[in-house]
Amino acid sequence: MMEVAFSGIQPTGDIHLGNYLGALRNWVRLQESFDAVYCIVDLHALTIPYDPETFATERLEAAKAVIAAGIDPDRSLLYYQSDVPAHAELGWLLGTMTSLGALNRMTQFKDKSDQAGEFLGLYAYPVLMAADILLYRANAVPVGEDQTQHLELTRDLAERFNQRYQEIFPLPEAIIPERGARVMSLKNPTSKMSKSDPSEASRVLMLDGPDTIVKKMGKAVTDSGTEIRYDWLEKPGISNLLEILSLFTDRSVDSLADEHAGTQYGVFKKTVADAVVEGLEPVRSRYAELDDVEVANLMVRNADRGRERAAPLQDEVMRAMGLRP
Ligand code: AMP
Ligand code: TRP
Repeated sequence: MMEVAFSGIQPTGDIHLGNYLGALRNWVRLQESFDAVYCIVDLHALTIPYDPETFATERLEAAKAVIAAGIDPDRSLLYYQSDVPAHAELGWLLGTMTSLGALNRMTQFKDKSDQAGEFLGLYAYPVLMAADILLYRANAVPVGEDQTQHLELTRDLAERFNQRYQEIFPLPEAIIPERGARVMSLKNPTSKMSKSDPSEASRVLMLDGPDTIVKKMGKAVTDSGTEIRYDWLEKPGISNLLEILSLFTDRSVDSLADEHAGTQYGVFKKTVADAVVEGLEPVRSRYAELDDVEVANLMVRNADRGRERAAPLQDEVMRAMGLRP
């Protein structure tokens, strides 16, 4: 039997270079060798302020963007989390085994609650994420580096369940790319590129047009000095750009740093912008060809497939916990 890969992305805010390089490219790659299940995690998105008026559109746009990035809906299962109630149910069941101590250690809760306030949904976010993954008995979870802590919690919960009730869950591994796992903000290269950064110039979006990409890259914060060198301590801005260039050209950062050592910052930024424009061109053109109604219909069909697929595991868990005869 093929191993299962599972991952999720929130449908709020536009997908940026960090999401693409840190996660989506691996989603696409894993389709080749895994039974891949990918989820638009709309329930997770409700844990920070959002607009219900535009949310349905944002969900559809996220689904289209994931397909445009290279997810083949004939090969992988792509669906909305809220269409499969077993996510929330298993989240509750796992919540009964999650200690507050473990949740208190989650750094993402600290970061997000500073902005969004301290709410139960945000606090329980990692438990729902564990449920997402375990519901499909996933072995591999392609994510960016910021999710490693959540993956550790998921493994702990799987182990606890296996010991306390019944050996049901494999322990899922995070699949984190060697480079691109933490793409930094273009405005502040010591913090990660993020959907929630108020500055739009801090991130290049996966679907940004060529002019926008060139403009944003041109304004990227670089470092004092004039030398192009891969050095995160002294030159985080340049190192971030080198890493992005490396990911779009399939060349090592060292050889790129050598080649551009004497290049002017402005010229270098244009080189990076051009590589990004070229690399994202297929994504942009696939997106433009997608039909809203067709994708919406696909997601309705996939809701059924998701529910069918989740049901047996959910049943097994319920029986193991004594909720079924
Ligand atoms: P989110 O936008 O929070 O739904 O994240 C979707 C995926 O993108 C997750 O796997 C994150 O780990 C990943 N991700 C988010 N921001 C970055 C970043 N700046 N660099 C690399 N990966 C990221
Ligand atoms: N927490 C992830 C993020 O912010 C999104 C997510 C939700 C997820 N459920 C998941 C990722 C399950 C991988 C597997 O990016």
